[in-house]
Amino acid sequence: MHDRFLRACRREPTDVTPIWFMRQAGRYMAEYRELRKKYTLLEICKTPELALEVTLQPLRLGMDAAILFADILLPLEPMGAPFEFAKGEGPVIHEPVRDRAGIERLRVFEPEEGLGYVLDAVRLIRKELDGKTPLIGFAGAPFTMASYLVEGGKSSDYRLTKQLMWSDPEAWSALMGKISEVVRRLLRAQVAAGAQAVQLFDSWVGSLSIDDYREHVQPHVRYILRDLEATGVPVIHFGTNTGALLEAQRDAGGTVIGVDWRTPLDKAWQRIGHDRAVQGNLDPLLLCAPRAVAERRARAVLAEAGGRAGHIFNLGHGIIPETPVDTVKAVIDLVHSIPRASLQGEPDR
Ligand code: CP3
Repeated sequence: MHDRFLRACRREPTDVTPIWFMRQAGRYMAEYRELRKKYTLLEICKTPELALEVTLQPLRLGMDAAILFADILLPLEPMGAPFEFAKGEGPVIHEPVRDRAGIERLRVFEPEEGLGYVLDAVRLIRKELDGKTPLIGFAGAPFTMASYLVEGGKSSDYRLTKQLMWSDPEAWSALMGKISEVVRRLLRAQVAAGAQAVQLFDSWVGSLSIDDYREHVQPHVRYILRDLEATGVPVIHFGTNTGALLEAQRDAGGTVIGVDWRTPLDKAWQRIGHDRAVQGNLDPLLLCAPRAVAERRARAVLAEAGGRAGHIFNLGHGIIPETPVDTVKAVIDLVHSIPRASLQGEPDR
């Protein structure tokens, strides 16, 4: 059944629970590491044929959805903030944006011009997958993108980002507004190019209090998600460390709300409301645990979902490079072996 994932996004009944993994293409796979000996990450992202190859690599393990191979940071270059992935350091933005002049200089570009290669990859992947596996497009959410732009790379406390947000709320709003317009256009363009669902990654938003989220982030995320929901494709709204933010994230929008592993799925779904679909939420490190432990905890996630229509099995965050492929396959097979009806506490709507 090839539409399990899309059906679950719309809270329609499925035979078994659909499953895919964030970062399902990447270094835990030997095929990916092999290709990375020849090309850099950015070369793969910028060459649609290579992005296609990597997007397809994990699908032999039986996932119910493919995710476009790209990166949330790609829009920074056409915005005028070039970066590189430095060995061992992660992303490095050459000229971080920390004041009004820097924000002023950022460009809101047309996706077909600035990121034509991403859209070419979407079209190529869709053509290759057609009728088989649905394709998820994605982008970074404005807070998570702003944190890279302001900090200049990864951060443990987001000090400079929060300082800008608090010391010059007007400049912050201008920055968030520009990023949001870039992201809205990019996701719209991915849908136009054939993406059948999109995910907004707000990976680092959990560093904010609920008050700061509502004041400084939520309006921008809402602007993006309202517009995307109007396209009719499912929109997945994801963050980590969001135990205190789930209701506010739901209010900002999303057909599907991503839940990390720190909040039990049943409690999270209750708070979000059963009129939304949910995605999650196995601790990614469990894929590095003994297989029996990983399987037991995957069963526990399914039990918490209770067989209700609208659960997409995933991790609470991305697969880490040390993950054994066999355990990934075992968890997929396990999830696919359990009829959804057998998990059911309540009948379908
Ligand atoms: O999920 C997928 O399989 C699709 C591809 C994908 C990548 N990045 C490729 C990638 C997706 C969805 C992303 C999203 C992304 N990128 C996020 C949000 C999701 C999350 O994990 O929170 C973030 C924060 C980024 C930014 C980013 N890209 C960082 C911080 C790094 C370096 C970290 C590291 O592990 O070295 C990347 C590099 C990156 N993007 C890799 C992959 C597969 C690492 C692999 C490599 O170097 O070849």
